[in-house]
Amino acid sequence: MENLIQAIKNRHSTRNFNSKPVDKTILTELKSFIKQNNQGLNGEQITLDIIEVNPASDKKMKLDYGMIKNNHTYLLGEANKSVISRMNYGYIVEKVILKATELGIGCCWIGYFDNEYFKDYKISNPGNIPAIVILGYAVELSSFTKNFFKTITRSSSRKDWNDLFFENSSNNPLSKNIPHEYVQALEMLRLAPSAGNTQPWRVVYDRRANTFHFFKKPVSKRYEKDGLHDIDLGIALSHFDIALQVSKIAGKWHFDEIVKPENNWMYMISYTPSVSS
Ligand SMILES: Cc1cc2nc3c(=O)[nH]c(=O)nc-3n(C[C@H](O)[C@H](O)[C@H](O)COP(=O)(O)O)c2cc1C
Repeated sequence: MENLIQAIKNRHSTRNFNSKPVDKTILTELKSFIKQNNQGLNGEQITLDIIEVNPASDKKMKLDYGMIKNNHTYLLGEANKSVISRMNYGYIVEKVILKATELGIGCCWIGYFDNEYFKDYKISNPGNIPAIVILGYAVELSSFTKNFFKTITRSSSRKDWNDLFFENSSNNPLSKNIPHEYVQALEMLRLAPSAGNTQPWRVVYDRRANTFHFFKKPVSKRYEKDGLHDIDLGIALSHFDIALQVSKIAGKWHFDEIVKPENNWMYMISYTPSVSS
């Protein structure tokens, strides 16, 4: 589990893949991880699968966003057409991504893809795949390309703590004068990937109740309409959850009826740690 924190820190989107198939032992380990980690935040179970397409086959999937090269192995599943189910999908899939990162596999979330591509692969309803992940070995970059990407990675940097985390209301940035395990969990949340790096997650901490309330701030109308922001929230919550588990903090995810939306933010879910340091 501790290794997953390192994986959170190391992970970044890989877009240039080697055509080498993913090692069979790694696939077996990932598939067993998938079986043990298939429960969402409210207990919903989502079944994921890994689909390998022969890189030499004619059946190549065209991707219209980003610069993906040599995609041949896909992690995906189906979710219901609801906010919570898409959030669960992000939560469950991101854990598998972190496990894959730990095992040396590069990954990239893909929100826009050809759903019909998967109709031949035991997917009962390809329209219900909220997003996919490409898996594979990253191509070793030349030093010129590395420097080029270093320059553009500014676009994948994250918003400041004060823009994301608040105490009691959205006007009041959260001080770091909280248990250090909570600071670490929020810092890990901050490193979460999101569609277009939009970072739509906002967190309000209620110190008296020792409860974190998670909100979605729709940043892109298109991503909101297509459900990608809901996936973004689930991804961020998996980082938060893993960090607390590593710190041996147990707690409960719940929906809090009394929480009112802040600004134009949408309330998603709350978390109350059962042990306060
Ligand atoms: C739900 C979701 C959908 C995404 N869709 C795409 C995509 O279609 N194409 C792409 O190149 N990157 C996609 N990304 C990757 C993001 O652009 C990337 O995570 C973000 O810019 C942060 O960079 P990092 O992953 O290197 O930290 C997606 C990410 C998420 C979470």
